[in-house]
Amino acid sequence: MTFILRGLVLHTPKNPFREAGALQAFSDGGLAVAEGRIRAVGHFAELARQFPGAPVQDCREGLLLPGLVDTHVHYPQTRVIGAMGYTLLDWLEKRTLPLEARLSDNKLARELAREFVRLLLRNGTTTALVFGSHFQGATANLFGAAEDVGLRLIAGQVCSDRRLRPELHTTPERSYAEQKMLIQRFHGRGKLRYAVTPRFALSASEGLLEVCQALLQEHPDLYFTSHINEHTEEIRTVAELFPWSAHYLGTYDRFGLVSERSVFAHNVHPSEPELRRLAEARAAIAHCPSSNAFIGSGIFPMRRHLAHGVRFALGSDVGGGTGFSLLKEGFVAYLAQRLAPDGLNLTPAHLLYLATQAGAEVLGLGAEIGSFAPGKAADILWVKPEAGSSLEVHFRHLDSPEELLGSLFTLHGEARVEKVWLLGQEAALN
Ligand code: GUN
Ligand code: ZN
Repeated sequence: MTFILRGLVLHTPKNPFREAGALQAFSDGGLAVAEGRIRAVGHFAELARQFPGAPVQDCREGLLLPGLVDTHVHYPQTRVIGAMGYTLLDWLEKRTLPLEARLSDNKLARELAREFVRLLLRNGTTTALVFGSHFQGATANLFGAAEDVGLRLIAGQVCSDRRLRPELHTTPERSYAEQKMLIQRFHGRGKLRYAVTPRFALSASEGLLEVCQALLQEHPDLYFTSHINEHTEEIRTVAELFPWSAHYLGTYDRFGLVSERSVFAHNVHPSEPELRRLAEARAAIAHCPSSNAFIGSGIFPMRRHLAHGVRFALGSDVGGGTGFSLLKEGFVAYLAQRLAPDGLNLTPAHLLYLATQAGAEVLGLGAEIGSFAPGKAADILWVKPEAGSSLEVHFRHLDSPEELLGSLFTLHGEARVEKVWLLGQEAALN
């Protein structure tokens, strides 16, 4: 049965970095949804004519947007958000890894998993590429929790075998066996997919990276994700650990881990050869602006990524990042680019694109999610201004949809996710 959502509809079916007019807006618009898919997007009056008798839900306060796509977020780290004053390696050692070690406790892991998927949805994220836990059981809990709420999840058991803390270290043999079980159990089940996830080259021996390579060869449709070029001290350490590698990317590339299925988080300090190689391999970057600022890693060289044709989209990087909101990430990306000497002047259309369709494409899901093109999954977000907020004032007094979108990103803290639909089904947000 078809139903219609009526409201101010905004999406970016085209790439605003490449063409003008990428933002499509319908002020009194609508989305016709049937069998979990977008059937039509357009002016409400036309949809009402096209689908007479279809029930209409009035979403006219606020905006209807495609579900947001988070290309980098850590399941065990919700409770680390806000740990101020550290840089990457001491933040990991003192704040993050002690908490991650506690996920050997399955009861805690289950609680964190439920909390995590609920927080993604409450922030309008309907698809996420997630760093799981170092523990197999906890990672299984994450997949289970995502399946329970209908979240589209790509995730993997994080693996490391050196330089973290002993409880988090595995061995290549054990990691192979544990990951293999998770792949068999979860990869391809409903909307769940598996990503091979070494934490970063710094904490992975060559033997462990070989295991990652073997898994990808045995299952070519798996994803691969890790961190890269985030912080200068990390980059120096990786260079010492892999003296044969010309650069950080080379540590992954040697093991066949740089491909169209790869998503690397951060890339704040890339060299030119790395950008060339990422572009050539069609590998993608998860750009995590609030984390880059919060941990003090640096400003993402967006212009250089664009110049090389390296694909990128937004990641919240909770808990190095400052929360689950991709609206906030879009806004912080905007601020960072304003401050960078060679930064770009991003528009609201760029921000929406980076939070939706760009993420879909980075995850190889560009034809399935990311915009309201007919036939795509009906993953939809309705955001409303908080009553009495300055964002509400904007909604009452601004009339251009693009200006409203700019206000939404800027005043993201005053926006409330009213409802989320996953494949056309309303999700429970509490
Ligand atoms: N590099 C290795 N592990 C992490 C992590 O948990 N967060 C971030 N931001 N960078 C990392
Ligand atoms: Zn991260």
